[in-house]
Amino acid sequence: MRFFLDTADVDAIASRYETGLIDGVTTNPTLILKSGRTQHDVIKELAERFPLMESISAEVVAETADEMIAQAETFYPLAPAVTIKVPCTVEGLKACKRLSDGGIKTNVTLVFSVAQACLAMKAGATYLSPFVGRLNDNSFSGVELIKAICGVQKEHRMETKILAASVREAHQASRCLLYGAHVLTLPIKTFDSMYNSVLTREGLDLFNRDYAEASLSNG
Ligand code: G3P
Repeated sequence: MRFFLDTADVDAIASRYETGLIDGVTTNPTLILKSGRTQHDVIKELAERFPLMESISAEVVAETADEMIAQAETFYPLAPAVTIKVPCTVEGLKACKRLSDGGIKTNVTLVFSVAQACLAMKAGATYLSPFVGRLNDNSFSGVELIKAICGVQKEHRMETKILAASVREAHQASRCLLYGAHVLTLPIKTFDSMYNSVLTREGLDLFNRDYAEASLSNG
């Protein structure tokens, strides 16, 4: 079970990394835009501050496999954890195959069907990213897609790890893990919400009150 954070906010990542529960970071062009920084700067800082992370994503944006690979060549020398994100298109999968054959970590992103996932596995992707929340936005079940993809991955003993993305609620996160996702990538808000239970809060308040009372009674 792996937890990645889906954000380019390095300070927010740092405070969650202190928990010891974070294994990697994903970003996308939208998250990089929000950060107000370049993707290269974000990746370099992440690699310097969190050298033990297993994966730091770098998304390529281009039309052809050759162009994607040319962009990837500017990213993967930055750190061993750098994982090249390519879109689940013909050109993206060609780039994935060539990068994976060359020993570069890859993440096939924008996956919305089992068929696409099969092609990404066959292309040797290190990770593939079904977008759970965006499927739900369009009246399909994201977690059912995770279940189906994980079934194929297991049945055919494929090495690709299933990375559930666009996960927006703690309940979705736990269902993805139940159905076999190897990795969750979570916005900060979703990660933080995984701690929350009103029963834990109430139980703790009671224990704290009783502890204080017992301390007073027993001197
Ligand atoms: O990792 C993909 C993710 O960033 C997309 O999330 O909430 O924009 O669908 P969302």
